Amino acid sequence: MAINIRGRSFLTLLDFTPAEINYMLDLSAEFKRMKNNGVEHKWLTGKQVVLLFEKTSTRTRCAFEVGARDLGMGCTFLDPASSQMGKKESLADTAKVLGRMYDGIEYRGFKQSVVEDLARYSGVPVWNGLTDAFHPTQMLADILTVKEEFGDVRGRKLTFFGDARNNVANSLMVVCAKLGMRFCACGPKELMPAADLVEKCKAIAAETGAEIELTDDVKQGAKDCDVLYTDIWVSMGEPAELWEKRIKLLLPYQVNKDVMAMAKPTAIFLHCLPSFHDRDTTTGEEIFQKFGLPAMEVTDDVFLGKQARQFDEAENRMHTIKAVMYATLK
Ligand code: CP
Ligand code: NVA
Repeated sequence: MAINIRGRSFLTLLDFTPAEINYMLDLSAEFKRMKNNGVEHKWLTGKQVVLLFEKTSTRTRCAFEVGARDLGMGCTFLDPASSQMGKKESLADTAKVLGRMYDGIEYRGFKQSVVEDLARYSGVPVWNGLTDAFHPTQMLADILTVKEEFGDVRGRKLTFFGDARNNVANSLMVVCAKLGMRFCACGPKELMPAADLVEKCKAIAAETGAEIELTDDVKQGAKDCDVLYTDIWVSMGEPAELWEKRIKLLLPYQVNKDVMAMAKPTAIFLHCLPSFHDRDTTTGEEIFQKFGLPAMEVTDDVFLGKQARQFDEAENRMHTIKAVMYATLK
């Protein structure tokens, strides 16, 4: 059956079937081929999108802006400092106004309920560019990168090391369940994904042949692993006071050359970025001065090593976001 997701919002991958996710991945690969071969694809000329960011961003914002322009669309960027959103105008009213002017809305912010409300009130497709709960556009880029490396992703083991209840880990568990992969959350018991989401993913896995595993044992997490994935230890919106506690809890789950050596020799390393792998950021240097750590969730030997694919992954944000916009707006 032909897949058609025109008019749909993209809020969490829980809302999409494996066939719909694979359709978006195939479309992404097609957009990547066109871009790399200089084939113009202004297929949405005349449409307009707006990007709402309540948290900062490099990759997601740029991916949406470049993707929109490549598709021939106009694109407006709004942040809280330059709009009435939330301060002088409710979200529902903002959504209703934006829905009158734009064909699609991207939102990055805090609560998942906000992106859901935007979709409810605006009447146009809304794309989740990251909330505290999920980061679904990231997952398409991640899986495209895994496909580019291994072809078929089914049965591949992807382990997330670290804060396994954050937005990225949650979304990875969902996409692995949907696509028949082996997902392993490897971190301290205090930072495991919520039980209800694990149950939902296990139910999906029962239908797709996926496996969901939770472990606090690094050896177990790395064993037979094809994709080692990590993310920062304190996410946007969490208080800076958490660093000390998180460092204590998560240092054993740092992805370094010893952990890489426990995985398959063909394994790759992924990171959604940004990453604290050295002291070349203000936060990285502050952490070094305070706690003596030169790297956090990943060490430079891995980040700069042969198995690292995080910059291919970052590029793929643009191709995949373009596919999401096109598939829902065409
Ligand atoms: N991975 C990601 O979402 O990066 P940005 O925060 O820079 O958008
Ligand atoms: N977990 C991170 C992801 C950044 C892309 C955060 O929310 O800050």
